[in-house]
Amino acid sequence: CYHNFSFTEPPSLQPYEFSSDIELGSRVQIVCNLKKGDLPVTFRWSKDGKPLSTNERVTVSSLDAFSSNLRIQDIVSEDVANYSCTATNSAGSDSFTAALIVRAPPFWKRQPKNTAQAILATRTLIVCSVGGYPAPRVTWKIKNPSGSFTPVSRSYKMKVLDNGTLLINDVKVTDSGMYLCQADNGVGEKLEKAVRLSVHVPPSIEKYSEIVTVQRGYTKSVRCVVTGERPLLVKWLKNNHVLEPWSNRHETYSKETTVGTNSTLVIRSIQTQDAALYTCSVENSFGNDSWNIKMIVNEPPQSPSNIFVGDVRSRVAKVSWRSSPTRSAVTQFIVRFWESSRYFGVKKLEEQVLSFGETSLLLRDLHPGTEYTVEIQAENSIGLSEPSDPVTFTTQEEGRCQVFIL
Ligand SMILES: *[C@@H]1O[C@H](CO)[C@@H](O)[C@H](O)[C@H]1NC(C)=O
Ligand SMILES: *[C@@H]1O[C@H](CO)[C@@H](O)[C@H](O)[C@H]1NC(C)=O
Repeated sequence: CYHNFSFTEPPSLQPYEFSSDIELGSRVQIVCNLKKGDLPVTFRWSKDGKPLSTNERVTVSSLDAFSSNLRIQDIVSEDVANYSCTATNSAGSDSFTAALIVRAPPFWKRQPKNTAQAILATRTLIVCSVGGYPAPRVTWKIKNPSGSFTPVSRSYKMKVLDNGTLLINDVKVTDSGMYLCQADNGVGEKLEKAVRLSVHVPPSIEKYSEIVTVQRGYTKSVRCVVTGERPLLVKWLKNNHVLEPWSNRHETYSKETTVGTNSTLVIRSIQTQDAALYTCSVENSFGNDSWNIKMIVNEPPQSPSNIFVGDVRSRVAKVSWRSSPTRSAVTQFIVRFWESSRYFGVKKLEEQVLSFGETSLLLRDLHPGTEYTVEIQAENSIGLSEPSDPVTFTTQEEGRCQVFIL
């Protein structure tokens, strides 16, 4: 039953391929030939799946109704792609794809710079990005003290990434020096580039203490020992406010060392208000560091306050007081009292020492009908406070008292 006189045969293409030794700048041509299939047939070309755009280098032509020619001249690396030819007629279509591969010597995608900068103890990448076909092999070499280059061996410390970048972990000052990136793929000339790596050191302060203690009236100097690349900018702060370099009671000065600088803060005749948080702050172009020191000023306690004499009898009276908010712990109180009036110059001074914690005392063996003055001092490990304000009281007459009792 062969009644199919209107049958149309769908297209079928002859395989084709690009030659394997194509070089950049050369010319290539492939023919997409109809092996079978009825006319009319249309041919379409695509590059990597997208319609091919033609130009003066890339042209498509047709010698007859059965074929289509693709010609590429002055081949450049962007021409490397899969080229497909599709033939279509009313019954269907056929398609064939071939890869254009060009052997290209290594070329810089990103040429390394002459110098690379790294910061101490960080991770550093030195770029050496190359193209070419086949993909070039990138080797990094490092200059020895002897002057020759030896390949970087893969380790935790250093490795060459797939994209040619050299990675250095935890950079040390000793890693600075000359590095050489080489790229080769067996086509044309090798590429190479030397890079000088500089390792920069951010500032670091030797923090030897967090608290300094000084006695009031004395002089104190605090030294900030800084390591790092110069220029180093050192600042001193007091309670987070920048200190002027000097005043009539303090000064700051710096002295350069082989590895950085030493900056000293000196405060003379230390006062209560010098107790504060001091900060040594340093920066250079590569980082910063700071160190906080709390300064404690040791000084005698403040005078006791609220002196009160109550329960005054003929021979006893009770004195009480408040310990003032202490700057350094009070160890004891000294209570001093004397007959204040009768004979000028004869005081009959009495003194009693009480341990810290007691804030009242019964004064005994007083004389009836006599005026007394009492004052109190506090003491700590540094010394004595000023005496408190004196308080005067008069004991009761004895005779009258006895009369009342009888
Ligand atoms: C062509 O396509 C294949 C499969 O998708 C791919 O592996 C190959 O890299 C391509 N070739 C080119 C030169 O683009
Ligand atoms: C190379 O690869 C590394 C790691 O994948 C990446 O961090 C870096 O940006 C890449 N460099 C270039 C130049 O592509």
